[in-house]
Amino acid sequence: MKQPESHILVIFGASGDLTKRKLIPALYELHTQNLLPEKLAVLGVARTKLTDLEFRENMKEFLPDQQHTQKDIDAFLEHLYYQPLSTADAVDYPILKKRLELLSKELSIPENYIFYLSTPPNLYEIIPQSLAEVGLNEPVSGYKRLIIEKPFGTDLKSAKELNKNLLNYFNEDQLYRIDHYLGKETVQNMLVTRFSNGIFEPIWNRNFIHHVEITSAETLGVEDRGGYYDHSGAMRDMVQNHLMQLVGLVAMEPPVVIEADAIRNETLKVFQSLRPITEAEVAKNVIRGQYIRSNHGKEPVIGYREEHGVDPLSKTETYLAMKFFIDNFRWAGVPFYIRTGKKLPARVTEVVIHFKNTPHHLFGNTDNADAINNQLVLRIQPDEGILLKIGMKVPGAGFHVQTVNMDFHYSELSDVYLPSAYGRLLLDCMQGDATLYSRGDAVEKAWEFVQPILNAWQNNPEIPVYGYPAGTWGPEVVDDLMEEGMWRYPCKNLSHDGEYCEL
Ligand code: BG6
Repeated sequence: MKQPESHILVIFGASGDLTKRKLIPALYELHTQNLLPEKLAVLGVARTKLTDLEFRENMKEFLPDQQHTQKDIDAFLEHLYYQPLSTADAVDYPILKKRLELLSKELSIPENYIFYLSTPPNLYEIIPQSLAEVGLNEPVSGYKRLIIEKPFGTDLKSAKELNKNLLNYFNEDQLYRIDHYLGKETVQNMLVTRFSNGIFEPIWNRNFIHHVEITSAETLGVEDRGGYYDHSGAMRDMVQNHLMQLVGLVAMEPPVVIEADAIRNETLKVFQSLRPITEAEVAKNVIRGQYIRSNHGKEPVIGYREEHGVDPLSKTETYLAMKFFIDNFRWAGVPFYIRTGKKLPARVTEVVIHFKNTPHHLFGNTDNADAINNQLVLRIQPDEGILLKIGMKVPGAGFHVQTVNMDFHYSELSDVYLPSAYGRLLLDCMQGDATLYSRGDAVEKAWEFVQPILNAWQNNPEIPVYGYPAGTWGPEVVDDLMEEGMWRYPCKNLSHDGEYCEL
C-alpha cells in the first residue's frame, strides 16, 4: 500500500467526544500498523486554552487498550499539537494560518492540510468560509481537503444549502463527507461478494430475489445524546445516511472500475431509481416507534421520554421500519424492507437477501415452512461474516427437508487485522481516495427520498408513533408491513440461530 504524503491534519472540535472516542484511537491504530505518513502533525483546535503538552496528556487516556510500549505511545503523542482558537470567529483564522505555516516549516511538512470538522453542524458554514478567507482552501503548494461528519443537513433544503455553501469555498473533489458505515470492512465486502463471485451476480435480480431485508438494531438507547437525538430521530440519524448507503451497495449495478466516481455514480443511480413514497402512502409503508419504560428485565428500563434532554411529550421516532421499491430493470417489483431502532434486544446489522422459492414444491409436505426459503445473510456486525441458508434432506426415510447453514466468520481468518471504520476512512482521505465517502449529489438524492416521509409526519400528527417496551423488537404492527413473510429476529451469533440466541 502506498504511504500517504506527509501532511498536517487539523481537527476542529478537538476537545469533543468524537475526537476522543474515534479519531485519536483511529490515528493511534494507524500508527501501530505503520500506516501513517513519514511526517504527520495532528493539530487539535478548540476554544479551551491548552498547550501542546497538555493536549497530549489529555489524549493519552483515549488510546485504545492494547499492549503498547511506552515508546509507541510517546512516538504517537509526538504527532499531536494544539492551537486554542475561537472557531466560530473568522478573525482568529490568521492565527491558525500562521501556526500551520510554522509547523510546516519546523517539521518540514509540505503544505498539505486536511481539515476535519468534528464540531456541531452549526459551524459547517463559518469554518469553511473562514478557512477560505485566509486562503486555506487553495490547493497551492499542497493539497487542502475538508472532512465533514453527518448530519449533512436536517432536511432536503438545508442539505442543499450546506452543499452549496461548501462548494462556494471548496471543490467537490476536496470534500470528504464521512459515513462511517462505508468504512466498515464488512460493508465494503458487499461489493466483493457481489462482483467477484460468478455465482451471485447472475441471480442478483428480480428473477431470483423475492425481497431484501436490512436491519440495523441497537441495544443502546440515546445515552447522553438526548438533546441531539430528539431533533433528529431514527430517520435522520440512521436511515437517510447509513441505511441508504447499504441499500446503494446492495442494489447498485457493477461499477466499471473500483474508483471513487465510478462507484458513487452507481450509488447515485440507485437513489435516483427509488420509487417516491408519497405523503399519502407514509402511514401504510413507514412505521415509526418509540421505546417506552419496560419492567421486563432484571432492572426497569426508562422510556425515551424520560431520557435526559428529551421532551417529555416527544414524538421523535427511536424505531423505524419501512417498505419501498427501486424502479429499475434489476429490481422492478422486489420489495425492500429496512428497519432500525434503539433499545432493541440485540445489536445486529445485517442485509438479508431472500431468494424466491423453487417453482414447484416437490417436498411440499415439509413441516418446516422455512425449509424452502433460501437466504443469504450478509452480517455487518457483530460476528461478522456471511451465512447461506439452504434446504437439506433430513437423513432417514422419506424426503424431509431441513434448513441448514453454510457460514463464514471473519474471526476464522487468523492474522487478519480488521481496521476500524474511522481508521480506514482517515487513511483513505490521507491518500486522496474518496471512494468510501458520500458525494454531495447522492446525499441530496437520499434526502429527496426521505423528505416526503418527514413532511407527512409533521403535517399529519395523527400518524401513530407506536410505543414498544425497551428491549423488545419494536412495535408489533411492523409484522403487517412485511407482506412477504416474517422479519428475521437476528441474534448476536450469526449461525446456530434457532438453537440458541446470544443477545
Ligand atoms: C451513528 C448514530 O451515526 O451511528 C448513532 O448517530 C448510532 O445514533 C451509530 O448509534 C451506530 O453506529 P454503529 O457503527 O455502532 O452501528
